[in-house]
Amino acid sequence: MAKGKIGILTGGGDCPGLNAVIRSVTKSAINLHGLEVVGIRDGFLGLIEGLVMPLTSQSVSGILTQGGTILGTSNKEDPFAYAAEVDGKVETRDVSDKCMELYHRLGLAALICLGGDGTLTIAGKLAGKGANIVGVPKTIDRDLMETDNTFGFDSARSMATEAVDRLHATAASHHRVMLVEVMGRNAGWLALEACIAGGGDIALIPEVPYELSEICQAVERRNVEGKRFSIIVVSEGARPVGGGQVYQHISRDGRQPARLGGCSQIIAKEIEDATGIECRVTVLGHLQRGGTPTSYDRLLATRFGVQALELVVSGQFNTMVALKGSEVTAVPIEKVMGKQRLVPLDSPLVKVARAVGTSFGAKVNV
Ligand code: F6P
Repeated sequence: MAKGKIGILTGGGDCPGLNAVIRSVTKSAINLHGLEVVGIRDGFLGLIEGLVMPLTSQSVSGILTQGGTILGTSNKEDPFAYAAEVDGKVETRDVSDKCMELYHRLGLAALICLGGDGTLTIAGKLAGKGANIVGVPKTIDRDLMETDNTFGFDSARSMATEAVDRLHATAASHHRVMLVEVMGRNAGWLALEACIAGGGDIALIPEVPYELSEICQAVERRNVEGKRFSIIVVSEGARPVGGGQVYQHISRDGRQPARLGGCSQIIAKEIEDATGIECRVTVLGHLQRGGTPTSYDRLLATRFGVQALELVVSGQFNTMVALKGSEVTAVPIEKVMGKQRLVPLDSPLVKVARAVGTSFGAKVNV
């Protein structure tokens, strides 16, 4: 490995476990290899603007259990399409050379990037400009290719499952339909697994477009069976057959990814209108991302961080740390760039859901 410091940044939305990776990279760099570590603040913004902070044994002490990221993050700063105001108008420019300047000025031997598809795609492009990159997969959506899991997912799933548990009691008492909207973007992993784990009755996921009549039938069937309440776990990316996803916000300058959300309110009204059964909606939102990581996520994140440093030390650049079965390994970063891992309809998980009577609100026999 070339001599120099190790840079680390966190990009995109935060998730529980980021600090555990920062800690394990820093500790193993210092303890095992006597290497210096520098944190880049606020994701790629820090690489553009030169926002850095040294990471030491002291500065990473006590952060294992903390949610969020001590480095800060941003999800709108892409150095290859950086938005700047020119003559009162917002224009996008390629400022990736500025990132490379800082990379060399700091004397970085490698840059470890913690992120989801957006961050890892940018990281892969910086690798194309000569940076030694190692990616670490993070996201509560678990929608990254080439890895069986990402840290953050387990914490979000636990939180969503607890919400489903809690909603059961009040749904049963009032004989209501309770809809709980969870995150996940275009992937239904979080909704599906929280629904199975919490014993929800209907899972609406983006991969299986729903039909209102099917949802209503499932709810009414339960009523006939004497179960006078239903819990519907709705993915924020759920969409009806022939319809589109619901957006909460689309940034006018295109700097931020469009924000999904709000479909559960629409579905609740439609169910109420069609069946006359009272519905209530709970949107879990960012509660799923905050808070302390579960022990599973702490462990996975710590393993990922140690592996990232090993890849740096052994010169295996332009890779992403990945979990394959129970083993932590590495895959080429280009295999991940610009792709999304969605729930396959023939997934064993879908079969499990079906077996325990979960409806997908769809006619198709998934
Ligand atoms: O990708 C993680 C995620 O939490 C998605 O599930 C969600 O759609 C999005 O980020 C929300 O992003 P923001 O933090 O910009 O609201």
